[in-house]
Amino acid sequence: MSGNAQGGLLGWIDERFPLTRMWNEHVAEYYAPKNFNFWYFFGSLALLVLVNQIVTGIFLTMHYKPSAEEAFGSVEYIMRDVDWGWLIRYMHSTGASAFFVVIYLHMFRAMLYGSYQRPRELIWILGMLIYLVLMAEAFMGYVLPWGQMSYWGAQVIISLFGAIPFFGDELVTWIRGDYVIGDATLNRFFALHVIALPLVLLALVVAHILALHEVGSNNPDGVDIKQHKDKDGKPLDGIPFHPYYTVKDIFGVGVFLFLCALVIFFAPEMGGLFLEYPNFERADPLATPDHIAPVWYFTPFYAILRAVPNDLAGVVLMFAAVLVLFFLPWLDRSPVRSIRYRGWMYKTALTLFVISFVVLGYLGTQPAGGLYTTLAQVGTLIYFGFFLLMPLYTSWDKTKPVPDRVTG
Ligand code: HEM
Repeated sequence: MSGNAQGGLLGWIDERFPLTRMWNEHVAEYYAPKNFNFWYFFGSLALLVLVNQIVTGIFLTMHYKPSAEEAFGSVEYIMRDVDWGWLIRYMHSTGASAFFVVIYLHMFRAMLYGSYQRPRELIWILGMLIYLVLMAEAFMGYVLPWGQMSYWGAQVIISLFGAIPFFGDELVTWIRGDYVIGDATLNRFFALHVIALPLVLLALVVAHILALHEVGSNNPDGVDIKQHKDKDGKPLDGIPFHPYYTVKDIFGVGVFLFLCALVIFFAPEMGGLFLEYPNFERADPLATPDHIAPVWYFTPFYAILRAVPNDLAGVVLMFAAVLVLFFLPWLDRSPVRSIRYRGWMYKTALTLFVISFVVLGYLGTQPAGGLYTTLAQVGTLIYFGFFLLMPLYTSWDKTKPVPDRVTG
């Protein structure tokens, strides 16, 4: 037991486990561009929300009963009788919505600065896989309280698979585990929600960050900081993640937690957006709610589903709307990454895309029909137009010269 510079407990560990090496590689000596801005808060915030969901989820699981008979009552029990149960549950339900707020902003940042472009395609693909798993995780979690919207939301979403030709009906029965949504469905969703999907999510997040640290972070200028290094091989425009960005991120965490606390303590339902009112009634297979709508983060895709009169085409388009995002690194032909140096075409297209996504999101919360359906059809066209026409307008667009070094 000799020959280590550290000595003490840390030295003892380092001789047996690469603790200091990992800390240096991923934190203290991870050189990140010095010009990170507001948009770079959301990666670390996503990590924070992930931890919050896991910790509050563990405590909820201690009192929740995964059976059709007891689930609704056990959630009421958590809210009224378990010490601090209401706080744990609101932290978890608010955390679910916060997760999507953070993730949508995180993804939008990648679109602003072309972070998915070469050599960061794999970071983006892993991110998209995270997004898919997160959607499945949120959907299954929403079924667990066994309220009216849990039940009827599951009914709508699971029956979508019935539109698939040849084996659709068998597939639906297989997913439900029964001929109707019931105990078997709730039990498997519980298993997937509390253990299977969180494990996949954690593994994907680790891979996402390893891929990021392999190629290095992009930045608001979209220039490669590894082009210019000092005599020690450190990027001239880079700064060590710790302490510079740990401190910056802690500030972001403070503001974020303050906003979350406002929601948790003053508006946990957020006017029916974060927790839908029909879900305060126990699931009743014999009484359909007047208006079935998913939680806000799914509504843009729900609006696309309903915009199409044909069932199968609607389902295909809805899934395509999510899957098309995987191809972004190859649809974008622009020679520059950052929006700062792109021309009017990409800027216009991105603006229209954001408007269509928000409008579709609103329409998805409203009953379909009439003008709303027409608007959803226009929104769907713009949404897909953004992606499918991207190879054209990104190669036609007149870009500005990109500076050699980051501009600050
Ligand atoms: C649990 C979910 C996620 C976590 C914890 C997470 C975490 C992170 C972290 C810590 C970073 C570095 C800091 C930053 O750039 O903000 C990062 C970067 C990145 N993430 Fe994520 N992420 C998640 C989901 C996603 C999703 C859904 C996408 C896209 C589909 C995505 C795409 C990216 C990209 C492209 C970068 C590189 C950004 C750049 O260098 O400019 N991430 N992520």
